[in-house]
Amino acid sequence: MQILDGSALSSKIKDEISIDVKALRDSTGNVPGLAVVLVGHDPASAAYVGMKKKACDAVGFYSVTHEMPKDISQEAIEKTIEMMNENPNIDGILIQLPLPEQINTNRLLELVAPHKDVDGFHPYNVGRLTTGLEGFVPCTPLGVMRLLEEYKIDVQGMNACVVGASNIVGKPMASLLLNANATVDICHIYTKDLKKRTLEADILLVGVGVINLIKEDMVKEGAIIIDIGINRAENGKLVGDVDFENVSKKASYITPVPGGVGPMTIAMLLKNTLQSAKLRKS
Ligand code: GUN
Repeated sequence: MQILDGSALSSKIKDEISIDVKALRDSTGNVPGLAVVLVGHDPASAAYVGMKKKACDAVGFYSVTHEMPKDISQEAIEKTIEMMNENPNIDGILIQLPLPEQINTNRLLELVAPHKDVDGFHPYNVGRLTTGLEGFVPCTPLGVMRLLEEYKIDVQGMNACVVGASNIVGKPMASLLLNANATVDICHIYTKDLKKRTLEADILLVGVGVINLIKEDMVKEGAIIIDIGINRAENGKLVGDVDFENVSKKASYITPVPGGVGPMTIAMLLKNTLQSAKLRKS
């Protein structure tokens, strides 16, 4: 069994990005800029946004966080997005999800200029991904593909099972795997016999937010296991959706939590923002 080390790869990518930022600053006088919208006081969202800001600082990006109260109006957020769409110092716009109930999330995601949509959530970019065209790809599934590439794992012809069908993780993950010629099974809360499907998987990717959802008896011997879940256990520790201790004994490769997919998400956000900045400045 080999660990897929997302922390190490993420550090390597961030070092490469720092060098590119210096070169960009030297040649154009500008650095990539990321704007984040954070609504309310959800501790997990605040923690994610904090990590994104820290990562931006570390590689030399400009970043700004628009913190808004939980009872903010739709119109106020829309105005902020329109302002960021127009701001020439901003290359990437990220609306931290989930948003409070009174907010129409889809309308906001559609308002982000597609060329600044570094989260890849605008329907324009979603359509490009589904069609196999270039565009911004959501950071978590993109990070998974980059991690597989680093370990020279080619999913062509594999049975891939994606557990979780969210717009942020499961659906784009399935599109990327399909584009890479895997046979893809997408499971979700209404799936009738999950175990029957996970047992078929050469590569199993799970992101639903349920501690220990995937147990040893649900996994084929030698399978590749990608744990996209991040949960807080009763003892306060961060854990994924996979029973790591037991499942790792059967896996050929497995991602740990923390230190697997999580750091790759942030690295891909930086990469998407850098790419946007390079396009703007060229
Ligand atoms: N909430 C959970 N994951 C994500 C993500 O990748 N991007 C944004 N914007 N919000 C999230």
